[in-house]
Amino acid sequence: MSGEIIAIYPGSFDPLTNGHVDIIQRGSRLFDRIVVAVLLNLEKSPLFTVPERVDIARSVFASYTNVEVDTFDGLLVEYARRKRAGVIVRGLRAVSDFEYELQMALMNRRLNQEVETVFMMPAEPYTYVSSRLVKEVVALGGSVTGLVPSVVESRLREKKLARETLRA
Ligand SMILES: Nc1ncnc2c1ncn2[C@@H]1O[C@H](COP(=O)(O)OP(=O)(O)OP(=O)(O)O)[C@@H](O)[C@H]1O
Ligand SMILES: [Mg+2]
Repeated sequence: MSGEIIAIYPGSFDPLTNGHVDIIQRGSRLFDRIVVAVLLNLEKSPLFTVPERVDIARSVFASYTNVEVDTFDGLLVEYARRKRAGVIVRGLRAVSDFEYELQMALMNRRLNQEVETVFMMPAEPYTYVSSRLVKEVVALGGSVTGLVPSVVESRLREKKLARETLRA
């Protein structure tokens, strides 16, 4: 086996925000390869379909040769094993993220001792950005310029128009 360090960055990315982008960029500098892994299923009413989310991430990271975008379901540590990844990357925004992330990291370690969870902090302007908040602001007519990649901003606008047309 090669000495490559492969990292998995799992999440729902509904949609990808500049906070996610910041973490992926940091990961791409730190690890040989980083796999952005979009979680299948789970949320009952996502705004973007999984293929749309994959598409967005692929276009944002098109020029990064060591960033891969994939989907997964089931146990994350099993997926990591299949991908030969030794690292799970997670982002930490605030203390509020910590408790859940600690639980997940320790459970994943119990399930697979060979995978290490690594936490990274985003640049300060993104410490309050979440997909949920972005969706909420857009739904209420606010601007998210600078908080999401421009491709996400235009896709959000399209979704909003489509929904308004449906309602009209
Ligand atoms: N702005 C951000 N800065 C740093 N890490 C982030 C940021 N947003 C999300 N993350 C991290 O990215 C990973 C995947 O998160 P996820 O897809 O749930 O995004 P989210 O913005 O928290 O979405 P939601 O609002 O739907 O919960 C998690 O480790 C999460 O803590
Ligand atoms: Mg979240």
